[in-house]
Amino acid sequence: MDFYPIKQVYLNGAFVAPEAAQVSAFDRGFVFGDGVYEVIPVYGGKAFRLPHHLQRLEASLAAIGLGNPLTHAEWGAVFAQLIRAHDGGDQSIYLQVTRGVAPRDHAFPKDTPATVFAFSQPLKPPEAGQLAGGIAAITVPDNRWQRCDIKAIALLANVLLRQQAQARGAVEAILIRDGFLTEGAASNIFVVRAGRLLTPPRGPFILPGITRDLILELAHAHGIDCRESAVSEAELLSADELWMTSSTKEILPITRLNDRPVGAGQPGPLQARFRQLYEEYKQAFRAGQAE
Ligand code: PDD
Repeated sequence: MDFYPIKQVYLNGAFVAPEAAQVSAFDRGFVFGDGVYEVIPVYGGKAFRLPHHLQRLEASLAAIGLGNPLTHAEWGAVFAQLIRAHDGGDQSIYLQVTRGVAPRDHAFPKDTPATVFAFSQPLKPPEAGQLAGGIAAITVPDNRWQRCDIKAIALLANVLLRQQAQARGAVEAILIRDGFLTEGAASNIFVVRAGRLLTPPRGPFILPGITRDLILELAHAHGIDCRESAVSEAELLSADELWMTSSTKEILPITRLNDRPVGAGQPGPLQARFRQLYEEYKQAFRAGQAE
């Protein structure tokens, strides 16, 4: 297998070539999907919103009864080394912690060290055409479990949902639970209705996205009307604007939903404003003036 462009990975205390990074087939991550992960963008050689990502990692680990195997300073040192292995350019760090290697038994093993894995790779920005024209999405029932707030590596439901979207010529699946919007298969969703920005509130059915939280912060800082509130399927389907947000895609306009145009069928003015605010925030971050 060709791992290019990943140059180096961190595995259980060592930095090795990607093809040399191997874990036991009895790792509980492999056998049970028993672990958690993070994806962190890197701009100007620095991990973006790092304290927020490490805090969410702590929350995910606590939720599955695992201690953090590394201190925040140790994580920072691992990331710095992985980032240095690449020359410049924006990157994204992937990290995962699993419950380690043990004979197969559902209950937790005792005194088993966690498996810790991380790497960085160049960040692929969304295609220019997707930003200019928006992407297509479909709505599908949210058939995931009831702890979607944990960033768990067990992503089979998300994989199947995203695949359903792809099979229908769309980029993202927008999930509906009990008649209300939750999130995307791998993104949070923002809805614009009558000039007001809405996104579902935190809770067990959505991942508290770091990009989502930054958008809420920017809205607040710039006096833009934005609410965390439940969005019904009918409100979603009659939105003026829709966006998906994530660490790797940032803010991506959705201009077709279930083969119908969203609003005017073009990326709307509020997403343009927020993409601008997001870019400015990233510039400030690169210049060392934001976290
Ligand atoms: N996924 N909701 C889900 C289910 C996600 O998988 C993601 C991100 C988000 C957005 O969170 P953030 O803004 O913190 O990236 C929301 C990552 C990028 C992934 O799995 O690759």
